[in-house]
Formats: sequence, C-alpha cells, structure tokens
Amino acid sequence: MIKQAIIPLAGLGTRMLPLTKAFPKEFWPLGNKSILENILDECFDAGINEVILVISKKKKSIKDYFKKDIVLEKKVKNKPELLKSLKNLNKISSKIKFVYQDKPKGLGHAVLCAKKLIKSKHFLLLLPDDIINGKNSSKELIAINKKTNSSVIAIRKVIKKDVKRYGIVGFDEFKNLKINKMVEKPSVKNSPSQFAIIGRYILNKSIFNYLGKQKSGKLGEIQITDAMNAMLFHENFYGCKFKGKYLDCGTINGYINSFKEINKK
Ligand code: G1P
Repeated sequence: MIKQAIIPLAGLGTRMLPLTKAFPKEFWPLGNKSILENILDECFDAGINEVILVISKKKKSIKDYFKKDIVLEKKVKNKPELLKSLKNLNKISSKIKFVYQDKPKGLGHAVLCAKKLIKSKHFLLLLPDDIINGKNSSKELIAINKKTNSSVIAIRKVIKKDVKRYGIVGFDEFKNLKINKMVEKPSVKNSPSQFAIIGRYILNKSIFNYLGKQKSGKLGEIQITDAMNAMLFHENFYGCKFKGKYLDCGTINGYINSFKEINKK
C-alpha cells in the first residue's frame, strides 16, 4: 500500500516572478483553498497518511502556516466555521513532515532530500504546479501500481510547441502504456512523442540510487526525468492517461485560467 507522498515546494517560482518573490505560489488561492491544500486533499483522499514537504529556508512561511496558533484560535472561538478551519490545519499538520532543500539544484535533488524518510517500496510524488480537477489522479495511479507493482507516471498529450516545457515520454500503446523513453524538455525534433509527464508519479524507492548518481541535466539542474530514464533499463514504468482535467498552475496565464475553471462550479 502506498502511504507516503513527497511534495517539493522549494522551487524559486521563476516563471511567476516577481509575484513569487516574497509569497510562495503554493498559497495562491484556487477555489476556496490554496493550491497546496488542493494537492494535500488529493493525497489524503487517496489514502496517504504521511506527506513530506520539501521546503527551503526562504519558504519557512509554509511551516508556519501549519503551526497551531492558540492566539488565533481564542480570537475566533465564537466563530465555529473559522475555528473549524484552523483546527483542520492542526489535523493536517500531524500528517506532515518537513525537510529542507538547501540549494535550488532542481526537482531530482528536491526528491533526493526526502530519501531518509521514505519507508516502503513505492511512494507518491505530486508537483503543485499541476492540478488535476474532477477525478483523483493519485488514486488512478495507485490502482495501476497495485496491478503492476511498478512505477507509474501521469501522462497527457500536449501540442507540439509545448513539448519543450515538459518531460516527454515514449511508450508502447499495446503494452498497457509501458514507457520506453523519457526526455526532459526536448526540442520538437528530439521528442519521442507528444505525451508529457504531468506532476503525479509513483516511484520505486530505488529512484534514490539513480538520483544519487545523476549529473546535472537541462537548466543545469538534477532532473528526475533523467534518473527515471536511467531506471527504465532495470524496471517497468507505466503511463497513466488520467481522466481528470489538467490545470496548469505553473505559469501566470495557466494559473489565471485554472482559477476561472475552478470557480465555474
Ligand atoms: C517538471 C518536470 C517535467 C514535468 C513537469 C510537469 O518540470 O521536470 O518533467 O513534465 O514538471 O509540470 P518543471 O515544471 O519543474 O519545469
């Protein structure tokens, strides 16, 4: 059973500067809660009982957010709805652990920072830039993992000009979407397909061995896609064409559209 998840939150949010300079984008609202709480709800609904948040010194406010605040609780003691929402944060915080990524060395490095805390064979990894609305995609991935006992990643077809923004996979349509190649942010010419990795992964903890050896890749960062590609030679990896609607919260325009989409309900 998959019970642990990693959510990397130490990124610099450079695509959203200057808005992200002092205020983490994970706290931006999406519906009546923050992007981060949307992601956490997805985790808990999928049966996860421990979430490891990878933060940086600059993003200590994330840790503060989940701290019990007795003064505030007293202040709203006669406002049951507000009190309930504060108490709910306390409940969530009992399921959260924090680890620090001291240098912005990329997504792969962020995941490696959580290595010591991962106990079981497989864990879930969720990227908060990617919201999947309408259907719990983590649950979909977990179901595939249960059947195959293998690593699984969420994939989705993107338009040609967007392949350079994502990790792109090559896969075998006739073998349950068995992945045979992964390339981080390729050119259209070198792209194995138009199917992009969207931020939901179930990974075998052997990924840490590959990440430990991984040299810097695209953008001079340790890329998880490169480590997963190395892992492909030794282990099965499956794609999951998830059913929910992908909302891109990793760019300003994407975020604005996601906000509108969520508020349509
Ligand atoms: C990261 C991953 C990439 C993936 C993308 C999904 O890229 O490295 O493989 O396709 O998330 O959003 P980033 O958004 O950090 O550039």
